[in-house]
Amino acid sequence: MQRNLLVIGATGQTGGHTARLLLERGHHVRTLVRRRDDAAALLAELGAEIVEGDVQHSLDRATQGIDALYFTYPILPGLMDATANVAQAAEDNGVKAIVNMSQKSARRESASNAARQHWVAERLLDRSPFAATHLRPTFFAEWLVNMWDGSGELRFPFADGRHAPIAASDQARVIAAILEEPTPHAGKIYPLYGPVELNHHEIAERMTRTLGRQVTYVPIELDEFEDILKKRDMSPHMIQHLLAVAVDYRNGIFAGTNDLVKSIGGIEPLDVESFVARNRAFYDAHTA
Ligand SMILES: NC(=O)c1ccc[n+]([C@@H]2O[C@H](COP(=O)([O-])OP(=O)(O)OC[C@H]3O[C@@H](n4cnc5c(N)ncnc54)[C@H](OP(=O)(O)O)[C@@H]3O)[C@@H](O)[C@H]2O)c1
Repeated sequence: MQRNLLVIGATGQTGGHTARLLLERGHHVRTLVRRRDDAAALLAELGAEIVEGDVQHSLDRATQGIDALYFTYPILPGLMDATANVAQAAEDNGVKAIVNMSQKSARRESASNAARQHWVAERLLDRSPFAATHLRPTFFAEWLVNMWDGSGELRFPFADGRHAPIAASDQARVIAAILEEPTPHAGKIYPLYGPVELNHHEIAERMTRTLGRQVTYVPIELDEFEDILKKRDMSPHMIQHLLAVAVDYRNGIFAGTNDLVKSIGGIEPLDVESFVARNRAFYDAHTA
């Protein structure tokens, strides 16, 4: 059945894959974009309705006539305001369901400000009259692209901690399935993982095999990581978050795997080898 669906964050990683998948499936997809840039033009070309706006401002027009929406917000200050604003607009306009991007480290007592806010945002949405489903992914597979510096070294403070990297495209399968049929997922919290849990030595080995060039994991301490993040011009909010979740990572908070991508999304999730192979052009273009 064709549904009227809103994707917030459709120019980003999970929202982009979700909007494209829903359009392929013939839904009416509205996207909230902050500006009419090339990414918005591409979405429009694929058939999305474009509504210009900011998640912190009025969402009345964006939510009118919408059956269900996907909400994601980057690691930036303002998550609580954005969540309350989305919830109010959704309630005002009779939206029946929200899929909310949270994260694996979302806990009441998390040392990360962003992760703690994710936990409170989940609880806020749980008080609303619509069905809310929370996604708590582990580190995305995209981390291996976003943090690639071209040197062939993965310099992270993760010691021997483990996680099963999950691709944004696989998360989109889950998000789309819930938006299409929200009722069975109302009130659920879904930890999302890729298929194989690995430490970063094992991730580096798999990247080496797939790319045919040496990739090495170099475990580092938190202060060196902080310097790396500062050199990348990351915001203080993001740096505070990443330093806190690095400790979580060492302590096993991001570990685990399950079959939710398959059972809800209907697809076998990508493993590290398949993800890296799909992104080979990026690694070829960005390796010293
Ligand atoms: N990366 C990971 O490893 C990881 C792991 C677990 C959970 N998560 C969670 O994933 C979430 C981020 O999801 P993502 O990676 O799919 O997003 P993303 O790629 O960071 O994209 C963010 C999207 O939000 C839009 N946006 C930002 N501020 C906005 C505003 N004020 N109003 C309207 N739109 C706005 C951006 O639009 P513009 O194009 O205008 O910037 C973009 O489309 C975070 O909540 C994080 O906690 C990430």
